[in-house]
Amino acid sequence: MAVGIFDSGLGGLTVLDAVARRLPQMAFVYYGDNARAPYGVRDAEDIFQLTTAGVERLWDAGCDLVILACNTAAAAALRRMQETWVPENKRVLGVFVPLIEALTERRWGDNSPPREVAVKHVALFATPTTVATRAFQRELAFRAIGVDVEAQPCGGVVDAIEDGDEILAEALVRSHVDALKRRMPHPEAAILGCTHYPLMETTFQQALGPDVKVYSQANLVAESLADYLERRPEMAGIGKDSMFLTTGDPAKVSEKATQFLRRKITFQAA
Ligand code: DGL
Repeated sequence: MAVGIFDSGLGGLTVLDAVARRLPQMAFVYYGDNARAPYGVRDAEDIFQLTTAGVERLWDAGCDLVILACNTAAAAALRRMQETWVPENKRVLGVFVPLIEALTERRWGDNSPPREVAVKHVALFATPTTVATRAFQRELAFRAIGVDVEAQPCGGVVDAIEDGDEILAEALVRSHVDALKRRMPHPEAAILGCTHYPLMETTFQQALGPDVKVYSQANLVAESLADYLERRPEMAGIGKDSMFLTTGDPAKVSEKATQFLRRKITFQAA
């Protein structure tokens, strides 16, 4: 039984860590396209081509279900993939919806009409591409009314994390939070809409202040994956072994992954 986890680079490890803890019996095959990260400055066509290539590699590794643990790929390519590309016996799911369900206090898969929710002012931090697609606002509008979303494209943060430059990543996070606060001085909630950002969650929380509830995806995605597999156990593929695949330099990527997750992670060439 294996499930695939896809990301442009290291960020999806935040999701991998949570799903592996939630579903300890399941094998997970991780694919990081580190050689081409960041995706957040690429156009939709490019992201579609790179994402489908990565997902195909995960199917070859025995995964019938792949989680796009990359908001940028989900925002720019997922709908096209689902409508035109994913074969009938496979599934590709994104990481947006569980987050929006949590923010709008909905149970998994509740498709009732949009309604008023407690949170009115939401700050969204995401990559420039994700912000440009407005995918988050679109999904939110299906579920909630009267929510004001201010989005901050966080240029440079993914690059700094991929390069292992924590000092630069922290400085960039602070400046992006400042820029957002100039437009929305008192957000009630903040969404970390990129799977790399939980690696900087403490900095986001400090810069936003203690009154802002910060939502990040990993645990929410883990819960919805567990729920999904309970209803669709046949979607766990035939793969047996957990693996970490990268298009980048396996030694370098393993070193950074080990540092981020604080346990030994060994990548191999995809
Ligand atoms: N972790 C990806 C996301 O969730 C980062 C995208 C990128 O490579 O810029 O958006």
